[in-house]
Amino acid sequence: MSSFSASGKLMIMGEHAVVYGYPSLVTAVSSRLYVSITPSTNSDVKIHTPQVKDSRFVQAALDVYKDKFKAKLTEMTLSTRSDFYTVNGFGSSAAVTVGTISALADYFKQDISKEDIFRLSYKAIQTVQGVGSGFDVASATYGGTLLFRQGGESIIPLNVPSGNMAFIVAYSGVKANTTEMVQMVKAKRDKESEKVNSLLRSIGELVVQAKEQIEKGEWESVGSLMNKNQEYLCELGVSTPQIDAMIQKALQSGAWGAKLSGAGGGDCIIAIAPVEKKNTVIGGIERAGGQIIDVTINERGVQKEQ
Ligand code: PMV
Repeated sequence: MSSFSASGKLMIMGEHAVVYGYPSLVTAVSSRLYVSITPSTNSDVKIHTPQVKDSRFVQAALDVYKDKFKAKLTEMTLSTRSDFYTVNGFGSSAAVTVGTISALADYFKQDISKEDIFRLSYKAIQTVQGVGSGFDVASATYGGTLLFRQGGESIIPLNVPSGNMAFIVAYSGVKANTTEMVQMVKAKRDKESEKVNSLLRSIGELVVQAKEQIEKGEWESVGSLMNKNQEYLCELGVSTPQIDAMIQKALQSGAWGAKLSGAGGGDCIIAIAPVEKKNTVIGGIERAGGQIIDVTINERGVQKEQ
């Protein structure tokens, strides 16, 4: 038996701009997705994903693995289980793909590096999704907190000091459609190229500043940069009234900064606040209809479970 878990992720800053070559910041969360492979008498691979209907990413990972290593994928059962299947925006597609590639390599005793896992998983995801920078795949593979550029052109781990900071995550209750949001930004860029290019460039600049402030543990400054990033995301047209309301309440309740995380149009918001304000901020976000998700950040990427 080969069993692996991969982490979910949250985009700290830089969504959308990352698709156009600018850097982004992504962190791995404590919610994990588990993939295990056991021998069986099936003639092929039986895929068992009881929490989700969609097994396209598992299938794509199997196909990419088979193609790459000329493996005979027979007489096995592959099962998945997730800590976060009721929350959207944590990157379950990336986590299941990374988990599947890793479990397959272990099952077949194939020597495989983290870089191989990233490349193969990114390839599999692209066959299903078409769009995407791969930041979620990098996060599920390497874990920690990363400065990431499109396609993994650079993946730089950050040194994140702990400090007097609470990281709060809340789900908006609405599932975002990443592909649609990416296409919407593209259409807007085609129409208003000067304005949108300048917004994307400005987001990229904020990310570079945020990296420095995170590594110094200057969380209040990180919060201000997140707020500026959120303003630009609003100008890009990817925020929603529900997200805006949750963010506003977080800030009114004492958060240093708050923004959407991911493509927008739904999914989660993130907020950072002084530890002593954590409960007040949580209360504020809940009053705006947000559902608090209890996770920690800067966690480990893919790892062997058994
Ligand atoms: O919707 P999510 O959580 O997969 O985030 C999408 C982030 C984008 O920058 C909009 C797209 C991408 O793949 O980087």
